[in-house]
Amino acid sequence: MTDVLPADDTGIARAAALLREGRLVAFGTETVYGLGADATNAEAVAGIFAAKGRPRFNPLISHYPDADAAFAHVTPNEAARRLAAALWPGPLTLVLKRRPDCPVALLTGAGLDTLAVRVPAQDTALALLRAVARPVAAPSANRSGLISPTTAGHVLEELGGRIDAVLDSGPCVVGVESTVLDLSNDPPTLLRPGGATLEAIEALIGPVRHGAAPGAAPRSPGMLASHYAPALPVRLHAHDLHPDEVLLSFGPPLPGARIAFSLSERGDLTEAAARLFAGLRWLDAEAARHGLARIAVMPVPETGLGLAINDRLRRAAAPRDH
Ligand code: TXA
Ligand code: MG
Repeated sequence: MTDVLPADDTGIARAAALLREGRLVAFGTETVYGLGADATNAEAVAGIFAAKGRPRFNPLISHYPDADAAFAHVTPNEAARRLAAALWPGPLTLVLKRRPDCPVALLTGAGLDTLAVRVPAQDTALALLRAVARPVAAPSANRSGLISPTTAGHVLEELGGRIDAVLDSGPCVVGVESTVLDLSNDPPTLLRPGGATLEAIEALIGPVRHGAAPGAAPRSPGMLASHYAPALPVRLHAHDLHPDEVLLSFGPPLPGARIAFSLSERGDLTEAAARLFAGLRWLDAEAARHGLARIAVMPVPETGLGLAINDRLRRAAAPRDH
C-alpha cells in the first residue's frame, strides 16, 4: 500500500505528483525523514496528523527549495537573511511572521501568525521541493510520541500502509531534527536545539535566548516533555549497569552489558547524533526480545550537538503523558 520510490528522476517525479494531488509522501532530509504534504492544502495537512496519530495540532515546518521561495511566504528580518545566507540549505528552521498573502494553510502553522520555514540540505529533498513547486509541510515521519525515523525502513515500520509513498534517499546524515529558532520577536529565541549549533547561530547574529539562559525560552508546542519516547523506561546519567538493563553508551562502554548500542566509541557528538534514534529503536526491540526492563544511558556532554542529543534523551526519560 505504501510505495517505496527510488531517489532517481522517476521516483522524484512520482513523489512530486502525489504531493501535488494532496497525498502523503515521506522523504529523507539531512536530519530525519519527514512526512510530507502540500502545505497549502489543509486537508492534505490534516492527513499528516491522522497518519501520525498526533493528539494535538502542533505547528508544522514548511519546506522550501531555497531562501527566496521561503521568504516569499514570511517576512525576513536582518537576522533571518544573515542566517539563511550562511546556514541554508541546512538543519535550521526559522520562525517568522507570515505575509498577509501567504498561501500556506493555517492548519500547517496550527493557527499561529508565524510560520516555521526551512531549506533542507539533501539533494533528493531539494529536487523534490523544486518539482512540487509548493511548500511541503513535514513533521518527522513517526507515529506520535515515538522515535524520529532516519531510514526509509524506519518510516515503513511506523507508517507503512498509512501513507502513499516513501522516497528512499538512504540514511539521514545528521540524525537529529533541525534547530528551531524564533525570529518573530526580540530577542531571537531557541525553541528546539538541533542540527545547527547555538555556537554557529550566535556567531552570526549575537546572543540567543535559550533554555540555559536567565528568563528561559517559552516552551514551543513541540517541546512536550514526552515527545520522543521509546517504549521502555530510560535511565539517564548511568555510571553503572543493573542486570535488567540494556546500555546506550557514549565513549568506552560500561562493562557487563548483555545488550549494548554505542552512540560513538570515540566520543564524537556528530557520530552520536547520527546514531541516536536508530540506537534507541534497536535497544527498545532487543530489550523486549530478551525480557529486559530498561535502557541505561551513559552521560553525553552538554556542548554542540550534545545539547540536542540530551534534549531528546531527557524527553525519552520523562514521564509519559500519552
Ligand atoms: O529536522 C526537522 O525539522 C524535521 C524534518 C522533517 O524537516 N521536521 C520536524 O518537524 O522535526 P516536527 O513537526 O517534528 O517539529 C517541528 C517543530 C516543533 O517543535 C514545532 O512546535 C515547531 O517546530 N514549530 C513549528 N512551527 C512553529 C511556530 N510557528 N512557532 C513555534 N514553533 C513552531
Ligand atoms: Mg517530531
